[in-house]
Amino acid sequence: MSTINYSEKIPNNVNLGEDRTLQRALEGWQPNFINWWDDVGPEGSTNHEVYLRTAVSVDPQGWAQFGHVKMRDYRWGIFLNPGDANREIHFGDHKGEKAWQDVPGEHRANLRRIIVTQGDTEPASVEQQRHLGLTAPSMYDLRNLFQINVEEGRHLWAMVYLLHKHFGRDGREEAEALLQRTSGDQDNPRILGAFNEKTPDWLAFFMFTYFTDRDGKFQLAALAESAFDPLARTTKFMLTEEAHHMFVGESGVSRVLARTAQVMNELKTDDAQKVRAAGAIDLATIQRYLNFHYSVTIDLFGADQSSNAAIFYSSGLKGRYEEGKRGDDHVLKGQTYKVLEVKDGQLVEKDVPMLNALNEVLRDDFIKDSVAGVGRWNKVLEKAGIPTRLTVPHKAFNRQIGALAGIKMSPEGRVVNEVEWAAKRDEWLPSAEDFAFVASLMGRVVEPGKFAGWISPPVMGINRQPVDFEYVRFG
Ligand SMILES: [Fe+2]
Ligand SMILES: [Fe+2]
Repeated sequence: MSTINYSEKIPNNVNLGEDRTLQRALEGWQPNFINWWDDVGPEGSTNHEVYLRTAVSVDPQGWAQFGHVKMRDYRWGIFLNPGDANREIHFGDHKGEKAWQDVPGEHRANLRRIIVTQGDTEPASVEQQRHLGLTAPSMYDLRNLFQINVEEGRHLWAMVYLLHKHFGRDGREEAEALLQRTSGDQDNPRILGAFNEKTPDWLAFFMFTYFTDRDGKFQLAALAESAFDPLARTTKFMLTEEAHHMFVGESGVSRVLARTAQVMNELKTDDAQKVRAAGAIDLATIQRYLNFHYSVTIDLFGADQSSNAAIFYSSGLKGRYEEGKRGDDHVLKGQTYKVLEVKDGQLVEKDVPMLNALNEVLRDDFIKDSVAGVGRWNKVLEKAGIPTRLTVPHKAFNRQIGALAGIKMSPEGRVVNEVEWAAKRDEWLPSAEDFAFVASLMGRVVEPGKFAGWISPPVMGINRQPVDFEYVRFG
């Protein structure tokens, strides 16, 4: 008999204490998860006590409990949003039928694939961010990094729970494989491209959490519509955590911009070299980082025309963003959507069946949401009296996936040839020299209330604590 007190060790609302099969599966998996965390999780962090929020239940009092904990002892929990026993499927061919509490045999392979693909991104981002703690610009930022890392760990648990509970032996094998693939590994990489890129510095980290965690938001929101009720409820709860990750990205870039603007005003210059010499990050470099992270992230939505996307929607596995708020028939047969394609070296619009274009629909929703935050960044510059504005590049810029991968585009949306691309690449995307410069600024600043010179302090601390609170106690 096991002596583990499950609700204490693993906070959950999935009745883990009574479910012997699930206990056995998790007991097999959990030691490997801890080994994974020790091997490729946040470097050198084992003895730190970090002021973290832990979810201990899904109600408003329970989902964000704050206190200092060692990350290795973090209570990774398993939560589903409260369910509705009468919930009906609200899109696709099964519209109006009862939502599924278990996996229908005919959709098993596709659902497993969807859950594994989502699950794979969670540990990947922890791996991508593992060295960043060594160069944190402040104790406040260090804590935010670690908060994101443990929550991505919990997101992995959330997907592993579904695999263990609903997919039997192949679910257990997939759960193991999630700990075996490694971001950037030559032989056994993570499934999706952006999750094999490096996150080499804190500007990249803030761009990643702004753009790539926002991809997470849109994928999770689409899965939160699923006819497979446990998946819908799990992903709905994950969305509450994702909001903090995007906040870290948005406020992080805002603070970098605020500091850069301050230096530009003090020196009365917009010369990138002078800004750099004063220890701040010039706006052109910030724009190039933005171009990179935006283009790599919009690739994550997949090919602009996809028969899988149509199958996932019509079978009820994955809906659209805010499916319930849309006024159409939620079946989408016979409807069309505009996508871009390359014809004679130029981009042209064409109408395609909407069901096949659902990746593009989700990408376009993501783009709208991303652009709004870039507008808020520009407000920081505007307030400081700096005339430069950041922009998102054209949708076809630097794409590797789908029809647009076949074309070279400037950020403004002009088709260019290979020669021009090669000549301008380093104006449009971060160069080796940009990375070297940003890396040169990355020192470790961890005295409470102190901040590196390239970033402004935040407006307020975490959970109403002061900015100079001891967010991390170093062991
Ligand atoms: Fe996540
Ligand atoms: Fe996230």
